[in-house]
Amino acid sequence: MKLNRTDFPQGFLFGAATAAYQIEGSSFGGCGPTHWDTFAKGPGNVVRAEDGAVACDHYHRWETDLDLLRDAGMDAYRFSTSWARVIPEGRGQVNQQGLDFYERIVDGCLARGLKPFQTLYHWEMPSALADLGGWTNPDVADWMADFAEVITDRIGDRVHSIATLNESWCVAYLSHFLGHHAPGLRDIRAAARAMHHVNKAHGRTMTRLRDMGMQNCGIVLNFEATEAASDSATDAKAAATQDATHNRWFIEAITKGSYPEEGLAGFGPHLPRGWQDDMTEISQPIDFLGVNYYTRGLVVADPDAPWPSTRPVTGPRDKTQMGWEIYPEGLHRTLTRLARDYVGDLPVFVTENGMAWPDTVDSDDNARIAFIDQHLQAMHDAISDGVNLQGFFYWSLLDNYEWAFGYEKRFGLVHVDFDTLDRTPKASYHALKSAIAPRKNDT
Ligand code: FCB
Repeated sequence: MKLNRTDFPQGFLFGAATAAYQIEGSSFGGCGPTHWDTFAKGPGNVVRAEDGAVACDHYHRWETDLDLLRDAGMDAYRFSTSWARVIPEGRGQVNQQGLDFYERIVDGCLARGLKPFQTLYHWEMPSALADLGGWTNPDVADWMADFAEVITDRIGDRVHSIATLNESWCVAYLSHFLGHHAPGLRDIRAAARAMHHVNKAHGRTMTRLRDMGMQNCGIVLNFEATEAASDSATDAKAAATQDATHNRWFIEAITKGSYPEEGLAGFGPHLPRGWQDDMTEISQPIDFLGVNYYTRGLVVADPDAPWPSTRPVTGPRDKTQMGWEIYPEGLHRTLTRLARDYVGDLPVFVTENGMAWPDTVDSDDNARIAFIDQHLQAMHDAISDGVNLQGFFYWSLLDNYEWAFGYEKRFGLVHVDFDTLDRTPKASYHALKSAIAPRKNDT
């Protein structure tokens, strides 16, 4: 790789990210059922109807996996703590095995010199709460804060940071409006409620964490580089609408206490009554922003479709195994825009960036190595332009359960054989390891 640790500021953190449902194995250790277990059983929802029952068996192989992070010379590990593993029914009875497991993870990180970056909600809603409407129920804010208190009570003294949610857009829009993720709804009222309740849950959880004296609390949001596919005024309007729902809705609520007009044009009539009253709690200060970035979103107007009357189009650049266009300058643009318009000097982390590639253990893995290099360059340039970027987490440490795509899309630095569950570091693992190895001029 062209860049290495010395190209980044002293103290810049390099790490890798994972999420509970994608790696742990939800059938182990007293974990309760979640809406992903049942969504996966619905016709046409997930490739081969695969689920996370075993996943990478990280629940039993966590020591090997933490060793892989340490041996790569990583500084930090981003992981999530499954709500249903800690509280199987979502509320009430706590599963001590679940708390013990996360304590092992956190202590295991610390023993290996890895800073634990925790995410509270990375997509698996406990089924008992999904039965009550999940993200469409306003009480989800208190349910989530209660869960946060239970897990923080056990590991909060040792985690480096806590993110409330991972990718609010996916939790709300992708899952309740586009129907691609659990619970698979395509309903504007459900979507509008989820679009607000994720923010409300973020705010309520922040309040609870502050009450517990926690610092280093924030959120992880996903951003795309939205662009109109032509110069026409109608396509420009389509891009502005998509930018509002995808990129602006959540960060604007959190940093300014408001929603963009272009988003309210569609969701406004379906928001829960009195939503304005929640905006103060939603916009309380955060300590950091996590940015997940993968690709550009090229869009055209589709006047025949209902609001937002947009349609995605495929760009001309090379694509990853997901079909996502490789567009590193979009990461630079996203980071500089966020600093300029929303977060100023607040510490920012790229909490996910990476690519899926149909690699095998013995392939050269050059595509992934080039991808990482190009995106590191974008981060480097953003830092030069004044962004307070403090770290980068590659998505993902391991090949894992890629949600609706099952086990087919391989994002890992480490190959996982899903028959034997053997782990084999890929060439990108070795390339990143040598790029981030401490240099002589480091102190
Ligand atoms: C992000 C998710 C993560 C993974 C990557 C590829 O949207 O946060 O769990 O699926 O995409």
